[in-house]
Amino acid sequence: MLNMRISRRAAVMGATAAAAWLASPARALVQAAGRLVVPGFVDELIARMTLEEKAGQLSLMASAWGGGKATALNPPSEGSSFPQQVEEARQGLLTGVFNGNGARMARILQIAAVKDSRLKVPLMFAADIIHGHRTIFPVPLAEVASFEPDLARRTAAAAAFEAAGAGIDWTFSPMVDVARDQRWGRGVEGGGEDVLLGRLFADARVRGFQGDDLKANDRMLACIKHFAAYGGAEAGLDYNTVDMSERTLREVYLPPYKAGFDAGALSGMASFNEISGIPSTGSHWLMTELLRGEWGFQGFIVSDYTGDEEMIPHGFAKDGRDAARLALLAGVDMSMQSGLYRKHLPELVRSGDVPLATLDQSVRRVLAMKAMLGLFDDPFRRIDEKRENARSMLPVNRSLAREAGRKAIVLLKNDGDLLPLPRTGKRIALIGPFASGQHDLVGPWVVYGDDARAVDLATGVRAELADKASLIVVEGSGVEEPLAGGIEQAVAAARQADVVVLAIGESQGMSGEAQSRTEIVVPEPQLRLAEAVAAVGKPIIVVLKNARALALQGAVADAPAILVTWFLGTETGHAIADVLFGAYGPSGRLPASFPRKSGQEPYYYAHKTTGRPNPPGPRQDYKAQFRGIPNSALYPFGHGLTYGKIEYAGLMLGSPTLPMNGEIMVGARITNHGDRAADEVVQLYIHDRTASVTRPVRELKAFRKVALAPGQSEVVSFRLSASDLQFIGRDNRPTVEAGMFDVWIAPSAESEGVHGSFELLA
Ligand code: BGC
Repeated sequence: MLNMRISRRAAVMGATAAAAWLASPARALVQAAGRLVVPGFVDELIARMTLEEKAGQLSLMASAWGGGKATALNPPSEGSSFPQQVEEARQGLLTGVFNGNGARMARILQIAAVKDSRLKVPLMFAADIIHGHRTIFPVPLAEVASFEPDLARRTAAAAAFEAAGAGIDWTFSPMVDVARDQRWGRGVEGGGEDVLLGRLFADARVRGFQGDDLKANDRMLACIKHFAAYGGAEAGLDYNTVDMSERTLREVYLPPYKAGFDAGALSGMASFNEISGIPSTGSHWLMTELLRGEWGFQGFIVSDYTGDEEMIPHGFAKDGRDAARLALLAGVDMSMQSGLYRKHLPELVRSGDVPLATLDQSVRRVLAMKAMLGLFDDPFRRIDEKRENARSMLPVNRSLAREAGRKAIVLLKNDGDLLPLPRTGKRIALIGPFASGQHDLVGPWVVYGDDARAVDLATGVRAELADKASLIVVEGSGVEEPLAGGIEQAVAAARQADVVVLAIGESQGMSGEAQSRTEIVVPEPQLRLAEAVAAVGKPIIVVLKNARALALQGAVADAPAILVTWFLGTETGHAIADVLFGAYGPSGRLPASFPRKSGQEPYYYAHKTTGRPNPPGPRQDYKAQFRGIPNSALYPFGHGLTYGKIEYAGLMLGSPTLPMNGEIMVGARITNHGDRAADEVVQLYIHDRTASVTRPVRELKAFRKVALAPGQSEVVSFRLSASDLQFIGRDNRPTVEAGMFDVWIAPSAESEGVHGSFELLA
C-alpha cells in the first residue's frame, strides 16, 4: 500500500516530482515513522515487574475525576472513585486514564505513579480529541468535504497543541472507518464513503497529531480506529454484525487504516464489531497475522472501551477470564475500562493459559511507547496548568477553525444565482431551530469543547450586515417536535422579508455513537415548517445542519439554494456567513452521496454495475433500480458548486495505450466563465471495463483543487500508472490486468465531465 500511496502522489505530482519524492528526506521520515524504538531499560524494567504490575500497564480506565467526564460519552460502568484511582496508580495497577479533566488532575495521578509507586513507571493520559480540544474544528466528515488533506493535518496539529498543553499524551483519533451506509451515526467521525479520500485524510491526521517528534510537548500519539470495518455494520446499525468478503475488506475498508499506520501511528483500537463471525477484539488473524505479520505494525492495540468483555454477549467468550485470554492472545495489548486484564491476566499466566512471553511482549510495546512519548525523561512534559490556559482558544486557532469551517461547506444548488447575498438592501428572515442559540454548534464527539464559546448562525450573519435591523430571527420549530405558534411566527417573518434563510436539519445528538437512524431525512416538524415558509413565495436558502448525507424532500429539496453546513465547531456562524455573503466562494465537495430516498442506503458511488445496470434516460423495466426512482444519487459524491460558472472540455489523453511499466497523461481544460472567482475540485475517475473480478462503475483516482479567476482557463492534468489501476484479485492479493479503461475528468462521481478510454497493455 505504501507503493500505492506513492504512486498516487506520482499521479498528481508527475513523474519527475515523484522521483524527487522517492529520494527526499520527507520520504525517509515516512519510512522511519511507525518504528517502535525499545530502549534497553524497558526489558530490565519488565524483568523486575510482578504479574500484577504487568497487567496494570495494560489497563486503561476512564478518569474518575469530578465524577468522570468520560461516562457522559460512554455507557456508564462501575468506575472507581478518583482517590481509588490515585491508589491504583501508587500500586502500579494503572497504565493511565482517559477523558480526564486537564493538567491538574494529570499532575495528581502522575505524582502518585512516579513518586509513590514501586517502579515509578509514568502514566499516560488519553482522550477523545476527535475534532479539536477547546477550539473545535468542523466534524471530521465535514473537513473531508474540503478535499484538502493538508487542512486536516493543520487542524490535527492545532488540536494537539491545545490538548498536549492540557496533559494529554494520546488521542483516540483518527477514526478512519469507511462508511457507506448513511444511517450509521458514526460516519460523522470519519472520512466518508471513498477509499482514496479515506487514505489521504488518515495519513494527514496522523501527521498532524504526531508531527515529527513524539516527545514534543505540542504533539500526541495518534490511534487508528476502529480496527476493522466498524463502518460496515449491517443496516448501518451501530455495533451490528459485519459480514463481508476478504476482497471487499482488503480493497475498500482496510486501506485507510493501513495509510494511518504507514503514516506512523503507533497505536490502534480494536473495533466493537465482529467480522464474518469473529469479533475483532478476539481475531488473531486481524490483530496479529494481518496487522503485525503482513503490515509490519510495531505499536500497541487497545480494546474499544469494554470491547473485550463484550465478547461474552457476542457469544464468543465464556466469561471474563476467557475474554481476557482471547483478547490478549489475539493481539490486543491493552484493555480499556473493563478491568478484565488486571483481574485475570496474572492468574491466566500462572495457570499457563497465557504464555508469559505474550504478556511481556504487550508490556514491552506499551512501555516503549511511553518512552517514545518522552514520559520516562520527563513525566510532566505535557502537564502544565499555565500552559493549558495559555494555549486555549488562541486567535490563531479560532481563525483556523473559521478557515476550515468555510472550506467544509458544500453548495448543492444555487438556482438563479440566489447566492451570494448582498450585505445591504435586503431584509432577511433567518428561520429554524438552528438559526440562533448556543446549541448544536460544536457537534458530536466533543469532550472539552463548549457550545457556549462558539459563534451561532445569527451572530455570524448579523456581523456581516450594515443594518442590523434588516435581520429577523425566528425559531419556527423544534428539532424533532413542533413549537407552539412557531409556524405562524415563521410565516409572518417570511412575509416581511425579501429572502429566507432556513436553518434546519439534525441536532448533534442525532449522530455519533449509537445514533443510527432508520430514515435519513430532515425531521417531520421541520419539513412542515419548510412547506409553510415556502408557501409564502419568497426565495429560500436552505442551510442544512447535518452529520451525514440526507435524503432531501419536498420544499427542502425544491428550495432554489441549498448549503450543506454540517457541524462546523467554534466558528460556525462566521464560517457560514462568509459563504452566504460571498467573502468566501464555496469550494467543498460531498464526501458522501446524498441519495434520493433513505431506502437506497447503503448508497455509494463506487457500486458495481450488476448484470442489469440502471440506464440513464427514460426508465426501462427489469433494471437494477427501485420503484419510482432511478438508482442514482440526488447529489452524488464529489458534487459541490462554486460561485463561478465552470466548464469541463477537451479531454486530453497522452496516448491511447498505457504500457504496464509506463504512465499516461490525462487532462482537461477547465474554464471559469463566471464573473466570480472559484476554487474548483477537479476529479479523475476510472472504470475497468472487464476484469477477472467485477469492478465498480467508477473509482476516484486523483483530484486537484484549482483556483480560477473570472474568465480564467487552465489545463489540469494527471498521470496514471498501472498501480493506480490495481485491484484485489481472485487470490485476495493486489493485481493489475491489461484491458480497456474508461476515464473521466469530472466535477462529481456521477457527472459526465469529459470522458475517454485507454488500453492498459499486457
Ligand atoms: C468509542 C471510541 C472511543 C471510546 C473512548 C467508545 O465507546 O467507540 O471511539 O474512543 O469509547 O471514549
